[in-house]
Amino acid sequence: PVRHVLCLAGSLRRDSWNRRLLGVAAAHAPATLHLDVCGGLAAVPMFDEDLEQHEPDGPAGVRSLRASVAAADGLIIATPEYNHAMPGVLKNALDWLSRESPQGEVLVEKPVAVFGASAGPWGTRLAQASLRQVLHTCGALVMPAPTLFIANAAARFDENAALVDPATAESLQRFVLAFEQWMARVAPAPARPQA
Ligand code: FNR
Repeated sequence: PVRHVLCLAGSLRRDSWNRRLLGVAAAHAPATLHLDVCGGLAAVPMFDEDLEQHEPDGPAGVRSLRASVAAADGLIIATPEYNHAMPGVLKNALDWLSRESPQGEVLVEKPVAVFGASAGPWGTRLAQASLRQVLHTCGALVMPAPTLFIANAAARFDENAALVDPATAESLQRFVLAFEQWMARVAPAPARPQA
């Protein structure tokens, strides 16, 4: 069976390196995987428990993200690094997704893989560490290895934000194949998309 993977970028930037890399990963995925790059987190409002009480299903942007996560067999998250941590927009989305909802707690037992690209020399090491910690707390099944830290990202893209570094494309391809094996190991039966 084909497994469906939702790909989330932790950046709202139009030319986000992280979103572009997810596009590259999707383009190189094997036929047994379908990678869907999420349109973005811009529609997810700031988390507020008052909003939750007012509207138990959550605001529209949250409902649609939660439904996409619930229907996916796994998630690949590509995070930038802001001040040595994941961006607030990504943490905010995870805070919403961590909550009880009509679709359940959608991150619990969800296979997740994490990578990231940044301008600096450490390639989002610290952002990924903070992201992994949050995902563990939410009950996700986070792939421990291989890790993928894409440093000095500016040098790997041309002026149109297209990836021009074949080694990075190959690493992404290996990463996606490893995630397919991780999903098969921790969640042998594919999740069933919910209506
Ligand atoms: C950054 N950037 C950055 N880079 C890094 O390697 N380590 C860091 O701690 C930070 N901190 C940081 C803070 C803030 C507020 C911004 C806006 C940026 C640079 C970052 O890697 C760069 O903006 C990337 O382009 C972000 O990823 P996307 O948007 O291209 O996916």
